[in-house]
Order: sequence, then structure tokens, then C-alpha cells
Amino acid sequence: MKCSIGVISGDGIGPEIVREARKVLNAVAAKYGHDFEYTDLLLGGASIDAHGVPLTEETIKKAKACDAVLMGSIGGDPKTSPWYQLEPSKRPEAGLLGIRKALNLFANLRPAYLYEELRSACPLRGDISAAGFDMIIIRELTGGLYFGARRTEEVDGVRTATDTLSYNENEIRRIARRAFDIALKRKKKVCSVDKANVLDSSRLWRKVVEETAKDYPEVALSHMYVDNCAMQLVMNPAQFDVILTENMFGDILSDEASMVAGSIGMLASASLNDTKFGLYEPSHGSAPDIAGQNKANPLATILSAAMMLRYSFDLDKEAEAVETAVRQVLKDGYRTGDIMSDGCAYADTERMGTLVAERI
Ligand code: IPM
Ligand code: MG
Repeated sequence: MKCSIGVISGDGIGPEIVREARKVLNAVAAKYGHDFEYTDLLLGGASIDAHGVPLTEETIKKAKACDAVLMGSIGGDPKTSPWYQLEPSKRPEAGLLGIRKALNLFANLRPAYLYEELRSACPLRGDISAAGFDMIIIRELTGGLYFGARRTEEVDGVRTATDTLSYNENEIRRIARRAFDIALKRKKKVCSVDKANVLDSSRLWRKVVEETAKDYPEVALSHMYVDNCAMQLVMNPAQFDVILTENMFGDILSDEASMVAGSIGMLASASLNDTKFGLYEPSHGSAPDIAGQNKANPLATILSAAMMLRYSFDLDKEAEAVETAVRQVLKDGYRTGDIMSDGCAYADTERMGTLVAERI
């Protein structure tokens, strides 16, 4: 199969982790007879350095022409990076939000899974982690607070800032459908997370999710307030199958879910629209503090590449080969610093990528 893959190496640890994911993709191509063609795309700080803006029309056009995009991470250290001297709409993060919106990537899938081998990296009490967990967070990605009107002004001499949280029923329905469709292929449980005891947007969310559920009689739907969900994720993560939630809640809960899975360095993600196209990136950030040191965990990016094989190219067998190779490396006792435990062998970024590629 011939696939054209846009590659956003990005900032911080981005180039290092993307390099390892490409190494693994090349091993897949060689083994299964595929032809992966890569096009480099600029986004975030790298785009600011080259063009003065975090996202250009050219990057959008080139990304649209690819079958899928693989991304590392964008952004720098706000305290030291000159990118953060720019106005907010010109900073690296605005580029990421811009490309999500431009490509209509409304569905963000973030699987959080506790690997048997990483149980000791799990910060939860042993009796809780013993139950294991395997959940996927479906986060709405192009609406809500991230994209509502915002302003900072002085009102009667008092500095005042406003962000707007708004959802319409169409935006809610399409992400709810995605969550139910995914649940059908899993344990058929959807937990919709909102703050319907306070927010109007959440009350509409709950209503539309309930209406949508009528088309999915096999799926068990429950609702949970976001504060309770934050607590349940550390108290009893095994209860979750599919978590469906809006943009901001999903941002926060997915970081939490990744940490109970051992490390944010393990959490992959796929951002999808209504077609087979997707943007695949680790859920973690650009970790500028360890950039260029060959220390970062590339597994979330490698697992994101596996999601790309599955969701954009329908290469299920190849996706499984990547996931199995990752598991095998962990079984064989190799760890990056973030998931290190007693008796394991340290692998740097480059070595970790090679170890996975060798097992394809
Ligand atoms: C994420 C990140 C982004 C987000 C940032 C970098 C804008 O935290 O993908 O979770 O908030 O969506
Ligand atoms: Mg986040």
C-alpha cells in the first residue's frame, strides 16, 4: 500500500520522538511491503522561526494533500522562549489549535491502558492497580472553551478576562456518535462526563448524548460529573471503557488517565475528522527541559503511529504488530527514565525506537 504521511516534527523533544516513530514505520513498510512517503510540515515554534507565524496556509494545504499526519509536539518553555513574547494568537499552541480547526479534527481519541509490565510505574495503590484498566477518552477537539470568543479588557478600571464555553447540538451529536461507534467495538460502555449541575453547555451535552444513545441500544450509557470523574480515575479506573467528554475536561482528564497508566510518555492520541484522515500525536507536550538529550520516551509517538496505521490506513495487522512490539520491549525489561523501575535496563530515546523496530 502506498501512503503519504505528513510529518510535523515540531519543537522540544518532537524531532527525537518522531525520528523513532519513523524508524518503526519504516520497519513496518519493509516487513509488510508498504510504501510510506513522508512530507515534512512546519508547525508551532518551528514555523514561527521560519515564517513568523505558528501555522501557514502552506502547511494546511500540504497536510490536506497527505493521507494522514504524524506529529511530535510543539511549544517551548514560556519562561525562556522568545515565542512567548508574541501575542497569544501567534504562539506555538495557536498553531496546533489552528490546524485542528482547519482540518476539522473534532474527535480526539486517547487510549489509556495499564500495561502489566508497568504496574510498578503506576502511582496507584497496589489493590487498585491490580484490577488493571483499559479505557479510551473521546475528547471533543474543535469546540468549547478552546474556540469560544475571548477577550481581556478593563471594566470600570478593573482588569477582566473572558472565555466563552459554547456547544451546539450538532457538535455534540457527532462526537457522541463517534464515542458510541467506538464503544460497539469495545466493552460497549460509554460514560459521558460533564458538569450538568452547573453549566448550560453541559445540560445540552447530556440531553444530546441521551438522544444519540437511542440509536445504540447495545451500549450502556452513564453520566458522571467531571469532578467525580477526576476522583474515580484514581479510585477505580477499571470501571471505565469509553469516556466521552468536551474539549477542556478531556484535556485535563486525559493527562490524569495517562499518569495513572504509569507515565504521560505512554499515551498516544488520534485526532480525526469525518473522513479517514487523521493527525496522530502523543498526548504529552514538548518537554523543552529534556529536549535534544536523547532521554524522552518515544513510545507514545510510536503508539500514535500504530493508531495511524489502524484508523487512517486500515492496516490493522500492522498496527497490532507495532503494539505487540512495544509490549515485547517492555516485557524484555527495557525502560526509558520516566517508566524506570528496579531490575530494568535503561534505554534512551534512540535505543527504545530501535528495540521496537527490531521486534516488528
Ligand atoms: C493537548 C495539549 C494541547 C491542548 C495544548 C498544547 C494546546 O495539552 O493536546 O492535550 O490543550 O489541547
Ligand atoms: Mg493536554
